[in-house]
Amino acid sequence: MQVATTIEEIRRCVAQARAGGQRVGLVPTMGALHVGHVSLMEAAAARCESVVVSLFVNPTQFGPGEDYDAYPKPFEKDIEICEKHGVAAVFAPGPEEMYPRENLTWVGVEKLTESLCGRSRPIHFRGVTTVCTKLFNIVGPDMAFFGQKDAQQAIVIQRMAADLNMPLEIVVCPTVREPDGLAVSSRNRYLSPQQRRDATALYRALEKCRELIDAGAADADEIREQMRAILAPIPDLEVEYISFVDAESLQELQRVQGRVLIALAARLGPARLIDNILVDKAGR
Ligand code: PAJ
Repeated sequence: MQVATTIEEIRRCVAQARAGGQRVGLVPTMGALHVGHVSLMEAAAARCESVVVSLFVNPTQFGPGEDYDAYPKPFEKDIEICEKHGVAAVFAPGPEEMYPRENLTWVGVEKLTESLCGRSRPIHFRGVTTVCTKLFNIVGPDMAFFGQKDAQQAIVIQRMAADLNMPLEIVVCPTVREPDGLAVSSRNRYLSPQQRRDATALYRALEKCRELIDAGAADADEIREQMRAILAPIPDLEVEYISFVDAESLQELQRVQGRVLIALAARLGPARLIDNILVDKAGR
């Protein structure tokens, strides 16, 4: 496995793979790798002969007061995980390699970035779309793999790639969960043991939601109330949003109809957690 820290090096690695006729799959990450990231590497390996993982904690997607400085960087362990899962090359640049000068050029997706997490994180998605564009331009993958865990991110990236005719396929892979249902996340390690146990409430609220919809419930406010009742007893838990949105436009819905994304965000002690489910309710 090759570990590249410069743009020139990773371009050389990818050029070699291409010269050998291999398809290149990119898994963009911020490191602190876990089984969710591994599932993306496996999905990439199933479709591409050469898998590239990027490890880069991207400063431009963190707002003031967010956890950029605290974000875990277990570099050696990340390299080991990549090695173990058959990754061909890791791209691990420093911030000065990715942003050598004041950045004046940004890629932004309108509308889709205004709801859900965009409301409390106004510069976040601009940072994500800009760094992903840079990574796509640097690596030139045939496919890039993203997780459903960050549903809004995946939808925004898919739209960006389509709107700008980027020559790659965006593949979205299912959310990987702990045995108790909690979505695996690098930020779960900020939780105390008690908060970690309490964190399953997010999943329980979403399961309740699915159950109600399966039983015929369709009014978003009514379902939301029952979800809030599951979350309310948890100490230190503050709900940021529970949203029912159209899975394509991310526009808020009053009624569950068609493909609906139910997404929630909550602060639990030191961590901001997100989770979501997708339901498909045929029109009546
Ligand atoms: P990061 O949070 O490291 O996540 C990297 C990728 O792993 C994302 O596509 C995310 O959706 C996916 N992922 C995280 N947890 C997952 C889980 N439990 N199941 C399935 N997939 C999961 O998302 C980012 O980094 C950054 O915003 C990035 C796209 C790298 C741009 O900087």
